[in-house]
Amino acid sequence: MQNVLTYLQENERRFVGELCDYLRFPSVSAQSHHRADVEAAARWLVEHCQSIGLQTRLCPTEGNPVVIARTPRGSSTHRRPHFVVYGHYDVQPAEPFALWKSPPFEPRIDGRSLFARGACDNKGQHFAHLKAVEAYLKTKTQLPCDLTFVIEGEEEVGSDHLAAFLRKNRAELRCAAIVISDTGIPDLKHPALTYALRGISALELKIHGPSRDLHSGIYGGSVDNPAMALCQLLAQLRDKNGRITIPGFYDDVVPLTKFERKQLARIPHNDAAFRKFLGIPRSFGERGHTSMEQRTARPTLEINGLTSGYQGEGSKTIIPSWASAKLTFRLVPNQTPRRIHKLVTRHLKRLCPASVRIGIEGGHGGEPYLVSPTGEQAQAALRALKSAFGCEPILLREGGSIPILTDFKKILAADALLLGLAMPDDNPHSPNEKFSLDAFAKGMRMGALLWQELAAVGR
Ligand code: BES
Ligand code: MN
Repeated sequence: MQNVLTYLQENERRFVGELCDYLRFPSVSAQSHHRADVEAAARWLVEHCQSIGLQTRLCPTEGNPVVIARTPRGSSTHRRPHFVVYGHYDVQPAEPFALWKSPPFEPRIDGRSLFARGACDNKGQHFAHLKAVEAYLKTKTQLPCDLTFVIEGEEEVGSDHLAAFLRKNRAELRCAAIVISDTGIPDLKHPALTYALRGISALELKIHGPSRDLHSGIYGGSVDNPAMALCQLLAQLRDKNGRITIPGFYDDVVPLTKFERKQLARIPHNDAAFRKFLGIPRSFGERGHTSMEQRTARPTLEINGLTSGYQGEGSKTIIPSWASAKLTFRLVPNQTPRRIHKLVTRHLKRLCPASVRIGIEGGHGGEPYLVSPTGEQAQAALRALKSAFGCEPILLREGGSIPILTDFKKILAADALLLGLAMPDDNPHSPNEKFSLDAFAKGMRMGALLWQELAAVGR
């Protein structure tokens, strides 16, 4: 085992260089003009996995391809435990470009930080697992289990085609657990096992007014303004204390237990530092809940994008023909994206005034995820975290979503072990995304130690 860890240390510089190569692909799944880049990233990954010694293939889907990479299976008839490692090679859009200190797809290293879109979310994180396995294979150290990497290209747009892929490949992917590094840690002294994530329900709302933009002086006052109608609609969805006002929205919410509230309260939070870090004059959120609870275990509504009218230089006096908003709801157990979508759609249609027309397009969804952190595998993962990071790990609930988790559970009957490496200042989805090279190094160690711990308790 020591030679595996030594290999990881000795080759760290090369690994960082390779990760930079991977990060140069603008594999933005949300933007169709990047389709070729998404493909190219997948092909690069296939070649890279092959060079490590993994049996790799590129699997087409109705959407972006999935990369499957398997450790060489032994010839012995003795069945070893099998684990799937999941990650995603697609990234979020890099906009607004002007706010990046260096171009998002030209990786830059500054001290122990590697800046690029996708650095932490998620290329850097699953790359750490690939390198840990490379260390086993290149040092000819026997892996105590079989591994299959499933690296997809549509996570950032809701993983629409992955469930069908899992169903089709159910036999090959049957496993004892799914290991995923795509979550966060408060700092390097608090490695974490995340046992809950929020779900998500996304939609796009469009308010249609006159058939074309109109002169606002000639028609203003006699024709409703779609931008105003949209604002008035949106403003009715949440009260000033952060409570969502859609009837039935909270019906299925499972309240936090005393124990969980106590656990969440242990995670350090300083409101002044939080405000300064984010540049906000005041924190905001649902009354009666701490900031940590609001961010991880309570449902929310966010406007992700808002578009209408003239946005260029100077003024243009028009009544815009339309206005639109992209909305997402974060969900907690036992809310479901389908039920929430229904409630929201019904409510919006009711609220919409007759002077405009409303159009709602259902986006993607994902169910909330919650698993008990007391099982044998979770305990094994915690041991690996402890020895890799050299300190006591913690248990986390987090606010982000990984839509495919509940499908893994339904289709493969396996739970996920969420062992994230992202730091609070990594800026995922924001300008100047980065990955901590220290987290990368510790993540590779964790990846290497994990298989020993997991195989020992594995089914
Ligand atoms: N890595 C994140 C999920 C995440 C972020 C988990 C922070 C825990 C803490 C993932 O890549 C992601 O961003 N998912 C999207 C899913 C959505 C586009 C369907 C998300 O949460 O917005
Ligand atoms: Mn993401």
